[in-house]
Amino acid sequence: MSACRQDRLHWRLIVAISLALLPVAAGSQNGAFSPGERTFSSGYRFVEMSGEELFVNVCQGCHMGDGAGAVGAGAYPSLAADANLEAGGYPVYLVLRGRRGMPPFADMMSDDQVAAVVNYLRTHFGNNFQDMVTAKDVRDARQ
Ligand code: HEC
Repeated sequence: MSACRQDRLHWRLIVAISLALLPVAAGSQNGAFSPGERTFSSGYRFVEMSGEELFVNVCQGCHMGDGAGAVGAGAYPSLAADANLEAGGYPVYLVLRGRRGMPPFADMMSDDQVAAVVNYLRTHFGNNFQDMVTAKDVRDARQ
């Protein structure tokens, strides 16, 4: 058998195997994603509703339980006694859009959830800003 003929055989084998596997691959894809099923692109939403629950579940991982921030693999600024939080629109904007190492949460949180976590942050950890941010403020900030 010449080298050339051996090569052709080789290719025929590969084509045959690929054709045999094709329906299996297509079938498993259809099975995995039935229409209407939640996928990554349809967005993950947090179910927690109170500002405290949201802070603990979403923000604390980076900003720490006391809001004091951390410096390690990256720098996470302190949110404790943070004068930057005086204007409620600033934390709302950051939670929606993110900035550098801070991820955006606009697609994962409802207006109510963003307002709740921002209001919680602005009244805890040594912050005492009593003017509450509303869900409407958040909705406007999304525009
Ligand atoms: C993945 C880590 C991470 C998570 C989760 C995270 N942040 Fe941040 N956050 C950061 C980083 C990093 C910065 C600094 C951004 C920069 O350098 O521009 C920041 C900055 C901020 C600031 C600005 C502080 C200042 O004084 O200017 C606020 C406010 C803030 N985050 C609030 C939150 C809230 C509220 C949550 C939860 C909804 C949250 N962050 C979740 C990483 C995170």
